[in-house]
Amino acid sequence: MSDDDSQITPQAVDDAVRSALAAISAASDTAELKAARAAHSAEGSPLARLNARMREVAPEHKAEFGKLIGQGRGRVTQALAAREAELAEAETAARLESERVDITALAAHARVGARHPLTLLQEEIGDIFVGMGWEIAEGPELEHEWFNFDALNFDEDHPARQMQDTFFVDPVSRHLVMRTHTSPVQMRSMLSRELPIYVVCPGRVYRTDEFDATHLPVFSQVEGLVIDKGITMANLKGTLDHFARVLFGAEAKTRFRTNYFPFTEPSAELDLWHPTFKGGARWIEWGGCGMVNPNVLRSAGIDPEVYSGFAFGMGIERTLMFRSDVQDMRDMAEGDVRFSEQFGMVV
Ligand code: DAH
Repeated sequence: MSDDDSQITPQAVDDAVRSALAAISAASDTAELKAARAAHSAEGSPLARLNARMREVAPEHKAEFGKLIGQGRGRVTQALAAREAELAEAETAARLESERVDITALAAHARVGARHPLTLLQEEIGDIFVGMGWEIAEGPELEHEWFNFDALNFDEDHPARQMQDTFFVDPVSRHLVMRTHTSPVQMRSMLSRELPIYVVCPGRVYRTDEFDATHLPVFSQVEGLVIDKGITMANLKGTLDHFARVLFGAEAKTRFRTNYFPFTEPSAELDLWHPTFKGGARWIEWGGCGMVNPNVLRSAGIDPEVYSGFAFGMGIERTLMFRSDVQDMRDMAEGDVRFSEQFGMVV
């Protein structure tokens, strides 16, 4: 260490203070600040060494230099404290930021739920009819036998009433059943709504069927009912063609095959044709339909001489099966999310 190097002069003090302040403000974290403190303010630092030289200063200058060094050290100490506080604050802020927890975020392992493809199809069907100005009608799943059968012109001994098809509900004397189709909503709509009636009713139905690839004991249907003046079978055919084309694409076609349902006359089996069905272009049985039987209109207090109507009904699971090429209906009932995921997990 040369004498010159630590010679006490105002210039030397000023230089030592200046470089100390520069190092302090350049310190970008507490470790660097610690190094700056060691180099510029601790024992052995230029300022400390200048201070140690005080005893060499002539007595008449002692006060002046003492003040100079004291002020310089004070400024350095202050700068250290200020920078320390600044860095501590910045480091705390950075740590808090890095530890930030978004309490509204979903846990990584939580799977987002979604609506079931059957629900989506049911809504899509509802939308098609609402788009034509129809209304959605609803009825109870636990239904009175009268609505489920009698009002729909079913004979007392119709096979569908027998135990193997229908879930009868105890006590039998109350004549309650789990509805076997959505057709009872026809009568409920006729009794509760103003004419004309344009309704579509999607909903769950129950039958004592096996649980297999093409049957579920609980499944869903959609029922359509129109009662107005001058309604003909042409209106029914046009409506179903439109429905088929919106749901399956412009190339879809429908055809009627004669059939019997007690609540429609004439009645038809409804078939659907599409060029890209699995197994090639072909006709698939889709549902039942027909002109509302005058007996049914009369049961509802509607004059069949003035009003006529049509009705149709089809299974939604079946529709999903051939629309989305689902091989096994049980996949729709078992609730495995991997099945729903294939439909895009729409929320
Ligand atoms: N309800 C019938 C069934 O479950 C389907 C049906 C046939 C509905 C003819 C109708 C209809 O509205 O007119 O098999």
